[in-house]
Amino acid sequence: MSLSPVEQLKRHAAERAAALVRSGMKLGLGTGSTAAHFVDCIGEKVRDGLDVICVPTSERTRAQAEGLNIKLSTLDETPELDLTVDGADEFDPKLRLIKGGGGALLREKIVAAASKRMVVITDASKEVATLGKFKLPVEADLFGLTATARQIEKAATANGCQGAVSLRKNSGALFVTDGGNAIFDCDFGVIPDADGLASALNAIPGVVEHGLFIGLATAIIIADPAGIRVLGDLSA
Ligand code: 5RP
Repeated sequence: MSLSPVEQLKRHAAERAAALVRSGMKLGLGTGSTAAHFVDCIGEKVRDGLDVICVPTSERTRAQAEGLNIKLSTLDETPELDLTVDGADEFDPKLRLIKGGGGALLREKIVAAASKRMVVITDASKEVATLGKFKLPVEADLFGLTATARQIEKAATANGCQGAVSLRKNSGALFVTDGGNAIFDCDFGVIPDADGLASALNAIPGVVEHGLFIGLATAIIIADPAGIRVLGDLSA
């Protein structure tokens, strides 16, 4: 199957991450089109004898992995993982991420936090100096969504951000996550204080989780036409 140039870059990043995997490892499998390439790579290695156990971050990834005969587990059976490999919607030079474009941010963050290492795979288009160009996804309980939106707006203003906070829709209907929650997409443009905004969002009762991943990624593998670049430490 021939891949488009951008899919080829994603595949290169995924192959580099797959080279980190050894038999006996416990892996977290991310969600999205880039992470799907990694799952494909693991499927190929499993076919060739690799013995790993994996926790998927979404029902979509679970279905893909099952189709490739990858051994699956849960964080209840396997609460500590060696390595999670996932995509991102945006990353900055401090390895801070925006995630959740695919709606899987809650499970992605839980799985990343349960992993000794989180390696992000991406093409260079996701690189920014300051996070916020990508609308920040914020997962919220269905109860009291309008009140929660107001609290998000207040938290944003207090942290120097401005922009529309809109409920994600899917063909006109409310988008509902694997965990049964809604997602607000926050069009902030620039987030001058990502750490401050993350803390403020964490303090809102209706917010289940937000898409700022801070202090989780240990390395980022970036594929561009000139080759592979790595931010952070792949062995950490
Ligand atoms: C899903 C995610 C994805 O990792 C993110 O949206 C990137 O996806 P893609 O690799 O398709 O660009 O956070 O919730």
